[in-house]
Amino acid sequence: MAPVKSFFILSLLIAVSSILNLASAHLSHDFYKKICPKVLPEIRKVVQRAIRNETRIGASLLRLHFHDCFVNGCYGSVLLDDTVNFTGEKTSLANNNSARGYRRCCTRDSVAILGGPDYRVLLGIRDARTASRDAANNNLPAPFFNFSQLLSNFQAHELNLKDLVAPSGGHTLGFAKCATFRNRINNDTNINPKFAASLRASVCPASGGDNNLQPFDATSARFDSVYYQALLKKKGLLHSDQELFKGNGSRSDRLVQR
Ligand code: HEM
Ligand SMILES: *[C@@H]1O[C@H](CO)[C@@H](O)[C@H](O)[C@H]1NC(C)=O
Ligand SMILES: *[C@@H]1O[C@H](CO)[C@@H](O)[C@H](O)[C@H]1NC(C)=O
Ligand SMILES: *[C@@H]1O[C@H](CO)[C@@H](O)[C@H](O)[C@H]1NC(C)=O
Ligand SMILES: *[C@@H]1O[C@H](CO)[C@@H](O)[C@H](O)[C@H]1NC(C)=O
Ligand SMILES: *[C@@H]1O[C@H](CO)[C@@H](O)[C@H](O)[C@H]1NC(C)=O
Ligand SMILES: *[C@@H]1O[C@H](CO)[C@@H](O)[C@H](O)[C@H]1NC(C)=O
Repeated sequence: MAPVKSFFILSLLIAVSSILNLASAHLSHDFYKKICPKVLPEIRKVVQRAIRNETRIGASLLRLHFHDCFVNGCYGSVLLDDTVNFTGEKTSLANNNSARGYRRCCTRDSVAILGGPDYRVLLGIRDARTASRDAANNNLPAPFFNFSQLLSNFQAHELNLKDLVAPSGGHTLGFAKCATFRNRINNDTNINPKFAASLRASVCPASGGDNNLQPFDATSARFDSVYYQALLKKKGLLHSDQELFKGNGSRSDRLVQR
């Protein structure tokens, strides 16, 4: 096998973490300690280089990991191209012309390099051998979802309210296209009016500019709490972001504040 290809396969084996609880007997933090001791530092270097080349790739990898895990578990199925036997996840509603970083790994390193925690990952998961666009369409949440739709979607993945509000903090990194928040800045009431007006006047006009990018928060290359601070000011970018904080003292509000 070519070195690049074998490295790629190893990399995706490791792209596994804690969004879903994958506690399983054969997984361990030191899966590669004997069979490939240098792999983790090598991956860290590759991700470092990729982020130095393009900071956003760190955000894109974090999102890719979420999209992998929410569709039949964290087995790398999101990376599979279509075959004669299945139509994969790459052309699903949430991923088509949107997901990026398919040839890179790995989320833990991106988060650490961009200032987040350097957490441990359970290793040893086997690669998916199949993928499904329909499963992706049915499982990935949309930016127009309301609070109860978001909660139901996460509950369907055995996640609770806290497990909705905390990982949504992934939007501390990266960008969204105008088309994903145009409705919000024109129609929503739970939004800071000046914030809405300035987006309408700049990056997201009433028509055109669908692919124009807006950072989720003011520090879109730092893994920090500024995303949640924006929600407190009704400056969430997506409708789904602001659904987590309405300002009426709900449990979700209190988790955002914390
Ligand atoms: C709660 C439901 C969620 C919804 C509705 C949602 C929706 C979206 C949308 C619409 C975009 C912009 C895509 C585009 O413009 O092409 C986006 C980007 C992003 N999402 Fe989410 N997301 C959710 C949860 C999450 C979670 C749990 C994570 C990770 C922990 C995450 C990480 C990201 C990142 C990092 C980006 C920026 C990617 C980049 O700049 O390439 N999202 N999300
Ligand atoms: C560097 O980033 C650009 C996008 O800004 C991308 O097209 C290119 O493939 C990246 N190169 C490497 C070596 O990662
Ligand atoms: C499609 O499925 C058949 C039957 O399981 C298998 O023999 C074949 O290798 C598969 N083709 C591809 C491209 O995966
Ligand atoms: C994915 O995007 C391409 C390019 O914009 C488009 O031609 C195609 O119809 C889209 N596929 C699906 C399934 O929406
Ligand atoms: C949320 O959306 C669903 C589906 O569109 C709708 O049935 C429900 O009434 C909405 N809930 C609220 C509180 O707006
Ligand atoms: C605002 O909401 C109305 C009614 O749902 C919809 O027809 C219209 O397209 C929305 N406007 C924008 C700019 O999204
Ligand atoms: C806060 O508002 C949402 C809808 O806007 C409502 O569903 C919820 O019950 C309210 N919570 C409290 C504590 O008032």
